[in-house]
Amino acid sequence: MSQLSAELAELLAAARAVRERAYAPYSHFLVGAALRAENGQVFVGCNVENASYGATICAERSAILAMVAAGQRTISSIAVFTDADTLAMPCGLCRQVISEFQRDAQLLVANPRQQRVLGFSEIFPEPFVLDR
Ligand code: THU
Repeated sequence: MSQLSAELAELLAAARAVRERAYAPYSHFLVGAALRAENGQVFVGCNVENASYGATICAERSAILAMVAAGQRTISSIAVFTDADTLAMPCGLCRQVISEFQRDAQLLVANPRQQRVLGFSEIFPEPFVLDR
């Protein structure tokens, strides 16, 4: 495994810990996310499913809601942790929502066996922008 910066290692630990609180009785797929806002604060989120499946909120968006409610608007790095065999990348909806609040964010995707660091723009180079 490649060596992570101290900041990303902290996010990874936070994402791994909050994953334990995921509410996923339907998929049994637990996801934890942790992000660092521009001011250095860390916010965490987990997926919260619902009997009405479409009402499910992903871990990444859950962390972003916490960040915005705390008055922060820019993600400098975000980590996503699952126990899936294949590293789970943020879904399309989450990519669009992350894109709203980032300029040049780092993305770390990890499971207990492997990890990968990317630039967010690598996975979402051309977001929808409302430009009237
Ligand atoms: N999920 C996330 O939390 N983040 C993603 O980027 C993709 C999917 C959750 C939603 C649902 O609770 C479960 O994973 C299975 O789709």
